Amino acid sequence: MNGIARIDEQSVLKAYARWAPVYDWSFGPIADFGRKSAIDIINGREGSLLEVGVGTGVALPRYAPHLTITGIDLSPDMLRKARSRVRERKLRNIAGLYEMDASELRFDDAAFDTVVAMYVMTVVPDPVKVLAELERVCKPGGEVIIVNHFAQDHGLRSVIERWMTPAARALGWHPDFRIETITHMTKLDLIETRSLKPMGLFTMLRFRKPLEAREAPSPKGADNPPSCCC
Ligand SMILES: C[S@@+](CC[C@H](N)C(=O)[O-])C[C@H]1O[C@@H](n2cnc3c(N)ncnc32)[C@H](O)[C@@H]1O
Repeated sequence: MNGIARIDEQSVLKAYARWAPVYDWSFGPIADFGRKSAIDIINGREGSLLEVGVGTGVALPRYAPHLTITGIDLSPDMLRKARSRVRERKLRNIAGLYEMDASELRFDDAAFDTVVAMYVMTVVPDPVKVLAELERVCKPGGEVIIVNHFAQDHGLRSVIERWMTPAARALGWHPDFRIETITHMTKLDLIETRSLKPMGLFTMLRFRKPLEAREAPSPKGADNPPSCCC
């Protein structure tokens, strides 16, 4: 882990209590291209959206009004900012903002048409458990979109990443988080991988949850069904 202390719930709460007042102008701008890429896709979809790790709600005013949005975050300090944004911007399509752990979502299975997690997977204590929750609450046929930084071993990007490591530590990131932690651990279909500005530092992964019919193994003899009796 490059000498980083293991992230736990308390360290997340402490880190984001410190970040909440300055988050929008410190980490906000560098991450904005990635947010825009995800939001453009989401706004072309219908129905309900769950934003996991909604933070200060920087994306909330940019979601299309036809979507119904629910946000969750572990940090009450970040959520406080998100709630005042909703009030100040008079956003009408926000169904709720809840203090909740992404690794134990209190929503039913298949509750949302779209689930998005932007810059979250590297800061959660247990990313594999969070991924399983994103899958669970997404409807079959729905999409899960993840925007994140993933580590590279070589090239210019790895140099930039090493240069960014102190900031990453301050944000509570795992700078050595690998894309395989997501792509090798999911049952979802990966439908798009997009490298994002600045300089490919971030990546958007777009997944579709298979329809149940596609997941189920075909029953024996399905190719020769019994002939109809009527
Ligand atoms: C880097 S910020 C990203 C915020 C926002 N998604 C954005 O685009 O700016 C990470 C957020 O994830 C939240 N977070 C960390 N661990 C979490 C967990 N286990 N459950 C829910 N939220 C969590 C933090 O409180 C923080 O608001």
